[in-house]
Amino acid sequence: MNDTLAPPPQLAALRHEFPGTDNWIYFETSARGLMPAGARAAVARYLDDRILEGGAPATMLEVLERVRAKFAHLIGAEPDEIAIVKNVSEGLNAIVTSLPWQRGDNAVLCTDIEHPNSIYALFNMRDRHGIEVRTVPATADFATPVDSIAQTIDSHTRMVIASTVTYTTGARTDLDALGRLCRERDIVLLVDGAQSVGALELDVRKTPLDAMTVGASKYLCGPYGIGFLYVRRERAERLQPGNLARYGIDLGDAHEGEKGGDHYRLMPGARRFDLGSYNYAGANALEVSLDLIAQVGVPAIEQHVLTLARAFTAGLHTHGLPVMSGQVDKHFSQVVLAGKSSPDTATEALLQALHAYLFDHRVKASIRHGRLRFAFHFYNTRDEVEHVLGLIGAFLRSRPPAVA
Ligand SMILES: Cc1ncc(COP(=O)(O)O)c(C=O)c1O
Repeated sequence: MNDTLAPPPQLAALRHEFPGTDNWIYFETSARGLMPAGARAAVARYLDDRILEGGAPATMLEVLERVRAKFAHLIGAEPDEIAIVKNVSEGLNAIVTSLPWQRGDNAVLCTDIEHPNSIYALFNMRDRHGIEVRTVPATADFATPVDSIAQTIDSHTRMVIASTVTYTTGARTDLDALGRLCRERDIVLLVDGAQSVGALELDVRKTPLDAMTVGASKYLCGPYGIGFLYVRRERAERLQPGNLARYGIDLGDAHEGEKGGDHYRLMPGARRFDLGSYNYAGANALEVSLDLIAQVGVPAIEQHVLTLARAFTAGLHTHGLPVMSGQVDKHFSQVVLAGKSSPDTATEALLQALHAYLFDHRVKASIRHGRLRFAFHFYNTRDEVEHVLGLIGAFLRSRPPAVA
């Protein structure tokens, strides 16, 4: 890892696009990312068009299709492999409900570290179709356990769900290994990309996964209410969507209001998962941040955020705080968790107090499951890391030694 002090020059210029960085040291992107100032003008243009003209393709469908194509480019997919969804839950459920589940089938995930959205989507299939939801324990460093998953799957396994990075422990999943395992057995690998897509590299031409979904509001720095569902073309074309509406039907050049007839044709690739009218305001805002991410490039962003996370992790260790994340290099991510796997009352109280202290000193971080989560994106700097480590040192020195 190249631990350079100087960030790529384009990153310094980029901070001006995010005025929130003047107000806060913003280490809270894992909860929601900062939005760029340009999003306001983009949404205003769309609203002016709706208010004054009723709305035109130039601010509606044309923007939507550009956003679809730009996201596809970001992850190495084709635009037809991207559906537009509202959020991660919708993307997960679109795939989970499109499998032809049979009683006796099973799906595998690690409930210790996966988001409740993935867990409930599968429990719903258990309760509706009689499938078995198999859970595997996380690795000793709290990551997705590829080896245990390999031992747990069998000829009835239809799906594995995993996150790119877990929201609760900050561990990066070895998706290449997990993807190979699932691909060899024709098991659908469904990935929750909420905690890294936009900051860490994910190239679906190299990483063999079937579906990946992400909302715009975290590392894509966009608004709530719009997101993406990537589905590999060959997989998508074997799936019948659980919910179907007009944008999922191939009407050729006919207007969307036309009826396709009793024998409709599904749209190619992932487009069959598009449902009704789109969040155009969201698409207009999101195009601005997708352009900024593309300008810097995800490889440079990844290098930058991992450099910050490494420096920060080292500082937490120096201060004697327990750190859960980043114990094994291949699982290291831009999300750093201070805390313990089973927090004791004293540690939890200490981290709550530190969280409040940092907030009072204009630093945003998040508390999750009694741990303090710090998350880095391209608008963060090495100076911010040093400043926050200094604040943490001052906080710890101000505490009675028994408690600190
Ligand atoms: C891993 C993960 N998945 C999903 C979500 C959110 O799901 P949704 O976009 O459906 O609200 C979050 C955070 O809110 C998350 O951290």
